Order: sequence, then structure tokens, then C-alpha cells
Amino acid sequence: MKWMQKHEGNNGTGHRVCPLGAARMFDNPLRLLIHQPGKMLRDYVKPGAKVLDFGCGLGFFSIAMAKMVGEGGLVIAADLQDVMLQGLMKRARRAGVADRIRPHLTAADRIGLEDQVDFAIGCWVIHETPDIDAAFRELASILKPGGRLFVLEPKSHASEKEFGKLLASATAAGLHEIARPRSIGDRAVVLERPPARL
Ligand SMILES: C[S@@+](CC[C@H](N)C(=O)[O-])C[C@H]1O[C@@H](n2cnc3c(N)ncnc32)[C@H](O)[C@@H]1O
Repeated sequence: MKWMQKHEGNNGTGHRVCPLGAARMFDNPLRLLIHQPGKMLRDYVKPGAKVLDFGCGLGFFSIAMAKMVGEGGLVIAADLQDVMLQGLMKRARRAGVADRIRPHLTAADRIGLEDQVDFAIGCWVIHETPDIDAAFRELASILKPGGRLFVLEPKSHASEKEFGKLLASATAAGLHEIARPRSIGDRAVVLERPPARL
């Protein structure tokens, strides 16, 4: 996509990522017509939970999840562009939830978290990652056993065939499909890291 920006810094691989201007454009109240975080995530994001927003951008899902996890919970907002994290934290302060969001700057090819989380979301980011197999392996390792990962990819960037490959990468990383939510204009899946055996 021509409008995407080449990412050079921070161990960049020169691959293309969404620029700030585009993130500003789609992170607006009209987006609630297609993405209603409360409804989409209510089965997965519970009060007190620790969750990850991978490729958080300006925090459309991070801020909504911060409200859902409440004071006892934590949202790790991870992105490879510091400018996104700065914008997100400004919005989080305005929304009164900055105290439960931890911004985390990733490398292009590594999220680099020590934490394990109950739930993670990657909305419109997987197609921007340089190595999808490696991204799923790392995401699977960040999920607690029984943890869930909600992936959304825009149909404009992920054909049915490409989404099939994405699912194969997720499966190879040990994740199991548990749901195929409907989302206008997207292909979406919820994956689970198998619960620990007793
Ligand atoms: C299209 S935006 C989506 C933002 C947000 N998830 C949303 O739904 O509004 C994609 C975001 O993923 C980030 N990103 C792309 N590749 C990444 C990577 N390898 N690791 C971490 N973040 C990445 C970009 O910097 C950008 O902020």
C-alpha cells in the first residue's frame, strides 16, 4: 500500500507500517459503527485482568480495555512507533485511565515483554509485521495458558488466502481457533493458548 510509511528506526526492517496521520483518521468516534469494544471483548476482558494491545496505534482498543479491566487491571499498549504511544497516553490521560495503561515500545521483529497476559488483541497489525510466524510464536508465549488472542485484519489487506496462511501460522505456534466473530470489513478470529493440564 502506497500510503503506508517505511519503518526505519528502532531495529527497523524497512517494512511498511501505518503512519500517524492514518491512525488519527481511523481512530475517531465513527469507528464505533464498526468496532464496539465493549460488545466485542466482553467475553474476554474481565475486571482485574492483564491484557495486551499489540500494535496499539493511538489506543482505540487500549483505552476501551482500560475501562473494562478497571482499577485492579492493566493494559500493556505495545507499538513500534513511539509517536503512537505518546499520542495514546495523551488520550488515556484525558479519559482518566492512564494509571492502568503501560506503554511498551517494541522492536519491529520482537515484542520483548517479560509479562504473561490473560488476553491480547492485534487489530490491523499482523499484516504489518515482518515475520508473521515469529509474531504468533511470541504472542503465544506471552499468553497465559488458557489466554485468548483476538486478531482482526482488514479485508483490503488480507485476502481469504492470506488469512488462511495467518491461521496456519497461529496453529503452528500452538494456538487453537475458538471463534470467528463477525466484523464489518474485517476477517477476525479468536485463538486460545491451550489451558495447562492438571
Ligand atoms: C493500522 S494501525 C492499527 C492501530 C490499532 N490497533 C487500532 O486498531 O486502531 C497498526 C499499528 O501497528 C503498529 N505496528 C506495525 N508493525 C508492528 C510491529 N511489528 N510491532 C509492533 N507494532 C507494530 C503500527 O505502528 C501501528 O500503530
